[in-house]
Amino acid sequence: MKEQLIHKAIEVLENNFQKEGFTIPSKGLYPFQWKWDSGFIAIGFAHYDVKKAKKEIETLLDAQWENGFIPHIIFHTESDTYFPGPDFHQSELHPKSSKKYRSTGMTQPPVTGFILERLLQISEESDDMLDFVKENIDKVFENHRYFYENRNWQDQGLVYIYHNWESGTDNSPMWDDIWSTMDPPEYTFERRDTTHVDPAQRPSKREYDHYLYLIDIAKKYNYDDSKIAEHSPFVVLDPLFNAVLIRSNEALIKLYKQIDGSNEKIAYLQSMQEKSIQSLNSKLFNPELGAYLHFDARNNRQIPYVSSSSFAPLFSGAPSKQQADIVVKTMLHKFGDADRYLCASFDPTHEKFNPRKYWRGPVWINLNWMLYHGLKRYGYNEVADRIKKDSVDLIENNGFFEYFDSRKNNPDAEKNGYGGDNFSWSAALLIDLLKDKP
Ligand code: SER
Repeated sequence: MKEQLIHKAIEVLENNFQKEGFTIPSKGLYPFQWKWDSGFIAIGFAHYDVKKAKKEIETLLDAQWENGFIPHIIFHTESDTYFPGPDFHQSELHPKSSKKYRSTGMTQPPVTGFILERLLQISEESDDMLDFVKENIDKVFENHRYFYENRNWQDQGLVYIYHNWESGTDNSPMWDDIWSTMDPPEYTFERRDTTHVDPAQRPSKREYDHYLYLIDIAKKYNYDDSKIAEHSPFVVLDPLFNAVLIRSNEALIKLYKQIDGSNEKIAYLQSMQEKSIQSLNSKLFNPELGAYLHFDARNNRQIPYVSSSSFAPLFSGAPSKQQADIVVKTMLHKFGDADRYLCASFDPTHEKFNPRKYWRGPVWINLNWMLYHGLKRYGYNEVADRIKKDSVDLIENNGFFEYFDSRKNNPDAEKNGYGGDNFSWSAALLIDLLKDKP
């Protein structure tokens, strides 16, 4: 059974791999290279085709800007199946943007550091992969330095995002209160996503107006970070984004030590890491809600909702044992009923929960993968095993979908898999989960 499932996952990845050297997340719906997808996809390839794993990361890093920034989408090819494309984003407005590729002018969680570490582990520390790490680690370092030099909110060690698409959790209810502070124009445009996927599973037209408006603001300032930070109505410290940065810092420090890398870079990362961990635990942790929360820096307030991003700090190792205990308790209490798959993307006990709508409730395999590793790192092996089993069951019962209904007895759908089908990171991470030693 396990072998058969892995075989199908490989088929998904092979069909989504493009001759230009990158892998689309899903046909039609996402026809380009996405930053965090690429990292997770490389993990899947590493288990059976090391060349493709390396290629995926090389192609991503090839699109890095002169200032270290790595964009969230790289438009390698022309496609009319996606909106908004390169003509809307106009990354060329930024003076340091890539001259080689058109892209967006926003980013996504910085997964590449811990991905390098994982690739090395999967290769069982092969010399070949160690050489690959040596060749590429400085680019990843420059990406981290970009964040700390340009996105470090009030120098506290937490990186801000200026767009919901930077969080990865596009239409989370998290952003609703921020949308209510804005009044964007009604844009006229043709949605492409809803020609591939049932609109009930995607963000609304009005939400897209907000998304486009935030890009227009960034464009008005030629994607200048400090001006965006000053003028954008959306400036958020996201626990998932920062947890990923901290986890990747940790990986880079470890890898630099292993390859006898620059002491200066190690010291830089260590000092940033200390600040980041401290601020994550003080500014984003909320003991009453028992979770890490998003901080709306524009309006100077924590956003009082719990989502799967609230548990992501476990993956980074930043929480104390006591904080980890509290967070896991919240996860089990709010998200962990026996008739539910772990882990819904938004609090199932909250009125804003929607089990079918993208990041407003469904289970996502990449979050599950990070939570699985986070839980294991703190010794919550039973919960970790449950997350792993739930992830495998969801894929086995429904297919390699983009996201899944968390209800075990879902009354209003024949199937529980939603969004894009044959979705690359669901396939890639399934391979990794099944091959992970128990
Ligand atoms: N996930 C976004 C979309 O749906 C872009 O990152 O288009």
